Amino acid sequence: MPRGGSRGCSEPAAGAVSGDAALLRQAAARHAAGALDEAEALYTRLLARSPRDANALNLLGTLHRQRGDLPRAIGLIRRAVALRPEAPVFLASLGGALAEAGQLEPAVAALRAALARRPDDAVALRNLGQALCGLGQARAALAPLRQAVALAPEAAETKLALAHACREAGALPEAIRMAEAALAHHDPDVAGQARFLLAALGRAPAPERAPAAYVRDLFDQYAPRFAADLTGRLGYRTPAALAALLRDSGLAPAPVEGALDLGCGTGLSGLALAPFARRLEGLDLSPRMLAEAARQGCYAALHEADLLDFLPRHPAAWDLIAAADVLNYLGDLGPALAALRAALRPGGLALFSVELAEGEAGGEGPYALGPGLRYRHALPALRATCAAAGLAGVAERRDVLRQEQGAPVDGVLMLLRRA
Ligand SMILES: C[S@@+](CC[C@H](N)C(=O)[O-])C[C@H]1O[C@@H](n2cnc3c(N)ncnc32)[C@H](O)[C@@H]1O
Repeated sequence: MPRGGSRGCSEPAAGAVSGDAALLRQAAARHAAGALDEAEALYTRLLARSPRDANALNLLGTLHRQRGDLPRAIGLIRRAVALRPEAPVFLASLGGALAEAGQLEPAVAALRAALARRPDDAVALRNLGQALCGLGQARAALAPLRQAVALAPEAAETKLALAHACREAGALPEAIRMAEAALAHHDPDVAGQARFLLAALGRAPAPERAPAAYVRDLFDQYAPRFAADLTGRLGYRTPAALAALLRDSGLAPAPVEGALDLGCGTGLSGLALAPFARRLEGLDLSPRMLAEAARQGCYAALHEADLLDFLPRHPAAWDLIAAADVLNYLGDLGPALAALRAALRPGGLALFSVELAEGEAGGEGPYALGPGLRYRHALPALRATCAAAGLAGVAERRDVLRQEQGAPVDGVLMLLRRA
C-alpha cells in the first residue's frame, strides 16, 4: 500500500490569511524535504492560529501517516474532510490512510467519493484497487488498477498490484503480461516479486524463498485485520495445535528458560507459547505485525529481522524455537533449519508447522508454490532436511492448519530436538 498521499496534497485555500498561506508553504516545503519534526512544528503553529485550516490538518495527518501513527493521522484528516467534504484531495488522503489502517470498507467509500470528483488520480485508483483486493473483490479491483496503470505507466508497483489482482480474479494471461511488464522496470524489489508471481503462475521455476519485500509488504498491509481474519474466517488453529503437540510430548513439564517465536506476527503464536517459557522473544520481518505483537504483552523482546539473517547471529541462545505458519514462506528449508538448530542450546526443541504438498509423497520435488503463494512441502523430503540439519524427530502430527477459499489446508506439526 503506498504510504504517500494522492497527487496534490492541498486544496486551494478558501479565504486564507496571507501569513497563514506563507506558513503553510514553509511547512509543506520542510515536509517535502523530509524534515518531519520541523514541518510538524510549523503545521502545529499554523493550526494554533487557524484551527480550521483544512490543508494544514490534512498535511499534518499525512505526516503522522508517514510516521506510522495511523489513528492520529486519520483523526486529523477526518477534520479536514469535515471542513471541506467535497474536496477530493482530502477524501483520497482519508481513503489511503484508512486502507493502510486496514479499515477497508470505509476506505473504499472515501476513495470512491474522491474519484467521483477527480477520476484521474492514479494513486487513489491504485489504493482503491488494492483495498478491493484486500476485501476479496479482485474482479472489482481490475478496472481501477487498469486505469491506474494507464495513467501512470512508470509505476512498476501498480503493474505488480494489477498482476496480483488478475491472478486472484483468474485473468491469468493478463496477470502474466503485467508481471512481465513490472519485471521490465528493473527495480530490484519489484523484480523479485514479479519473478515470484511468475513462478506461481507457472512461468518461472519456484525461487528458494518468497522475496522478503513481498512478505513484509503483505503482512504490513494485513496486520490490522490479521488476527480477526485468521481466527475467524480462516479457522486458523496452528498455535493451539503446536502447543498441544508440545504439551502431549511431556518434554516441557516446566517452563524452559528462553524461547523464540519465529515469525511471531501479531502474537497469536506467542500467546500459545507463553506458558512454556520464562522468557519469550518474538521476531518478524513486518514492523506492523510487530507493533500488534507488542500489544499482546507476552514478549520480553521483539526483533525486526529476517529469520535467515537473525538466527546465525545468535548461536545456542534458546531452549525452544517455534515457527507457526512461517516456514511456508520458504521453499528450500535447509538453510533455515540448519540456522534454527544452531540457535538452539544443546537438547533444545524446535516446534513448527509446514503446509503439505498434495499426496503422501508430495508430487515431484521437495517443495512447490501453492495457490495462496505459500510453499507446500513433501513430507519425506522435509524429514530428510530436518535430519540433515541435525534435528532429530520427537513427535509429528498431521492436521488441518486453516481454511483457504473454503477448503482445508493440510499440514504437519513437527517437534524436534537438537541432536
Ligand atoms: C502467517 S503469519 C503467522 C504469525 C504467527 N506465527 C501466528 O501464528 O499467528 C507469518 C509471519 O511470518 C513472518 N515471516 C515470514 N517469513 C519470515 C522471515 N523470513 N523472517 C521473519 N519473519 C517472517 C511474516 O511477516 C508473518 O508475520
